[in-house]
Amino acid sequence: MSESRIFLSSEANTHRSGGLPRVMWMILLAFAVMLPMVVNAADAIPPKGTYDGKDVLQPIEFPHDTHAKVNQINCMYCHTYARRSKVAGIPPTSKCMGCHTVIATDKPRIKKLTEYWEKGEPPKWKKVHDVPDFVHFTHEKHLRRFVFNADLPVENVSEVCGFCHGDVKNMTVANKRKPLNMGFCVRCHEANGGPSDCWKCHK
Ligand code: HEC
Ligand code: HEC
Ligand code: HEC
Ligand code: HEC
Ligand code: HEC
Repeated sequence: MSESRIFLSSEANTHRSGGLPRVMWMILLAFAVMLPMVVNAADAIPPKGTYDGKDVLQPIEFPHDTHAKVNQINCMYCHTYARRSKVAGIPPTSKCMGCHTVIATDKPRIKKLTEYWEKGEPPKWKKVHDVPDFVHFTHEKHLRRFVFNADLPVENVSEVCGFCHGDVKNMTVANKRKPLNMGFCVRCHEANGGPSDCWKCHK
């Protein structure tokens, strides 16, 4: 973000002062070339680090790819609370049945889903991401900063979810792909102007 400000303000100055030495133009050009590499559409410096999560055996193998990529259903259509609370939330079966009383009803996994629905019992989805209880995390602040305040079109929200969850669009059931440890959080806060006080992340 700061790079783009420097770039824009130096450019504005040239109009007033009428020309810059050639070396300055070369520096500005170098910034313009580097900019897309460090600053993405969410106006963020993406966090570094990966994690090789083990497959989590879920009651139904829910295909994120079919929903989020092929059928372009927004992450926040199902994970409704992400934009306004600490948690993102797993959708209730009623939301699934809004489509699956008519879509793919002959498929074995949908038959299983329908059985849960008829019994009035939600599938017992197992947690994939879980930070320790002494850590304070909130989805709302991060989405406000990187989606709504960055004017990112909501259909591109998965880019921001991906900072902390990886490329869920191309997964079936979700899998942990980012370390989500203290170093990971703190480095991203340093890079993007997030808070560094211990008590912000530790209650
Ligand atoms: C907005 C509509 C919509 C919602 C909501 C929805 N789905 Fe789907 N789902 C689809 C579509 C479309 C397909 C692809 C169907 C096909 O390929 O024939 C699909 C496919 C699936 C499949 C794969 C079926 C197979 O074996 O091919 C599963 C499993 C599934 N959905 C589970 C769920 C669950 C669980 C929920 C709720 C958490 C859910 N769906 C919510 C539209 C939806
Ligand atoms: C800045 C990092 C970050 C971003 C961005 C982020 N998450 Fe999360 N998410 C986490 C962490 C950390 C947890 C574990 C929270 C816990 O254990 O209390 C989590 C947990 C979850 C969970 C399971 C628990 C819950 O909160 O319901 C879901 C579902 C989820 N995230 C979906 C999303 C979606 C969808 C997006 C984008 C709209 C998103 N997340 C963006 C860090 C992030
Ligand atoms: C049709 C509804 C639906 C859509 C759309 C959807 N999800 Fe999910 N999501 C689920 C269900 C059901 C689960 C529980 C099964 C699992 O863990 O994969 C889940 C689980 C997750 C989890 C793991 C939660 C945990 O326990 O830590 C994350 C992270 C997540 N989704 C992120 C995303 C992101 C990012 C997108 C958009 C690219 C997305 N989801 C789109 C229904 C959906
Ligand atoms: C993509 C970079 C990024 C990652 C990764 C990230 N954060 Fe943040 N976080 C921020 C920024 C930027 C803010 C400041 C948002 C604002 O208020 O404008 C923030 C704000 C917060 C806040 C709100 C503090 C307050 O003012 O109340 C908490 C709590 C927090 N982050 C915890 C975490 C934890 C815990 C993790 C790791 C699991 C994490 N964050 C990962 C960028 C990040
Ligand atoms: C941006 C969020 C964030 C900030 C700021 C932060 N921590 Fe943490 N901290 C975490 C997370 C997330 C974990 C959990 C690590 C894990 O699960 O591996 C953690 C874990 C810890 C632990 C447990 C031991 C460990 O390393 O796993 C201690 C002790 C700790 N933090 C102390 C501090 C102190 C002292 C500060 C201030 C100098 C601080 N933290 C600032 C996010 C943060």
